Amino acid sequence: MKPKTIIEPFKIKSVEPIRFTTREEREKLLIDAGYNPFLLHADDVLIDLLTDSGTSAMSAKQWAGIMNGDESYAGSKSFYRFEEAVKKITGMKNIIPTHQGRAAEKILFSVVGGKGKFIPNNTHFDTTRANIEFTGAEAGDLLTEVGKHPEMRADFKGNMDVEKLEDYINEKGVENIPLCMITITNNSGGGQPVSMQNIRDVRAVCDKYNIPLFLDACRFAENAYFIKLREPGYSEKSVLEIAQEIFSYADGATMSAKKDALVNIGGFLALNDDNLAMEFRNLLIVTEGFPTYGGLAGRDLEAVAQGLEEVVDEHYLEYRIKSVEYLGNKLVEGGVPIIEPPGGHAIYIDAKRFLPDVSPDKYPGQSIVCELYLEGGVRAVEIGSVMFGKYNKNGKLIPAMMELVRMAIPRRVYTQSHVDFLIEIILEVYNTRKKLKGYKITYEAPMLRHFTARFEPVS
Ligand code: F0G
Repeated sequence: MKPKTIIEPFKIKSVEPIRFTTREEREKLLIDAGYNPFLLHADDVLIDLLTDSGTSAMSAKQWAGIMNGDESYAGSKSFYRFEEAVKKITGMKNIIPTHQGRAAEKILFSVVGGKGKFIPNNTHFDTTRANIEFTGAEAGDLLTEVGKHPEMRADFKGNMDVEKLEDYINEKGVENIPLCMITITNNSGGGQPVSMQNIRDVRAVCDKYNIPLFLDACRFAENAYFIKLREPGYSEKSVLEIAQEIFSYADGATMSAKKDALVNIGGFLALNDDNLAMEFRNLLIVTEGFPTYGGLAGRDLEAVAQGLEEVVDEHYLEYRIKSVEYLGNKLVEGGVPIIEPPGGHAIYIDAKRFLPDVSPDKYPGQSIVCELYLEGGVRAVEIGSVMFGKYNKNGKLIPAMMELVRMAIPRRVYTQSHVDFLIEIILEVYNTRKKLKGYKITYEAPMLRHFTARFEPVS
């Protein structure tokens, strides 16, 4: 018999206590933080779902790698191990380590971006968009229609709309498009996967116009596992083989190793083009470090190399994807509106449907985020009009397309009982949602305001 219970595929060797607080304490702490959980001390949080980035628990072998790190400035043994591990998955010729994903993006777009350039993607993550726009280029999101509807279920809601891609190329001019990107999984669209077929279709359009294809590959293993589960023809293939096929369609990739390489810091750029790689390395030396460490210590490179081996383990991925799905399904059973189906690394509450009476200018997502903290010491993040809202000329809010609350699940950190506790807290907040009236902003920075904004409840 195949047991129905999916267990954490690890034993726990080292533990980190989490700190319990009372509701009264949390009320005070939240006021001090200006009702912005980004401004809380992490020690005052019981279950921290702010991000899945850099928050993984490393394995005993990764920690052993840390001790084995070769800290030579040039040509470190750890670099060659790292390079081999990245090449095994991506098949790419040039592997350039960076300190995290956005450093890879910064180098990539400093070289290929600039005023008058346009970069299409299924959905750009905010650092990718910021790095593109910083150079004067424009970032275009071409998500498939179904991906924009939180309540609709589909297997690959992260896909790019291939017809829109062709229109985009014709409208902007092929000479103005230095590359096309696909983000796997599509973080900003709910952690939804992209199908192999879609990657092939995008590749075909890129080939037609001679445009290089780059992947934002942060969560490539989770995406590959979804392909194995959902796409015809892949159930018998290993996740490693599926990942290798994904990368075979790309000319390059940026990666934040803080996600699917199961480390606390790290990233890389991978690409086939030698001339571009030379330009990237020249910039790397100015901004990150010598090409065989690129902003990381030798020990970090060891941990990434080991993490990349572990992340394609299918027992791990089954536990990972099923535990996120378990949380999502229990919330749906309790009536909580979420982006369906659950994504790979996070559950996204649909705050518009959760609090239909709280208008976007009262920030329904922020209300839920604050209440989750007050109720259970849980930290989540608003991804809606606080994060993406803009103002028109008259100072009126132009709301974001969606009002979401993201609960990102760190890798290998929480167990099923943590998840059961979470479910209880979220259902309680949902069942008492009538008391939530919204927030107003009392301070905001001119850019990326969500990190430092301060709020007050509206009555
Ligand atoms: N691309 C995607 C799809 C991401 O999710 C992230 C980071 C990055 C690029 C940038 O990588 O943080 O290493 O510089 N996402 C984190 C998150 C911050 O919480 O979703 P980085």
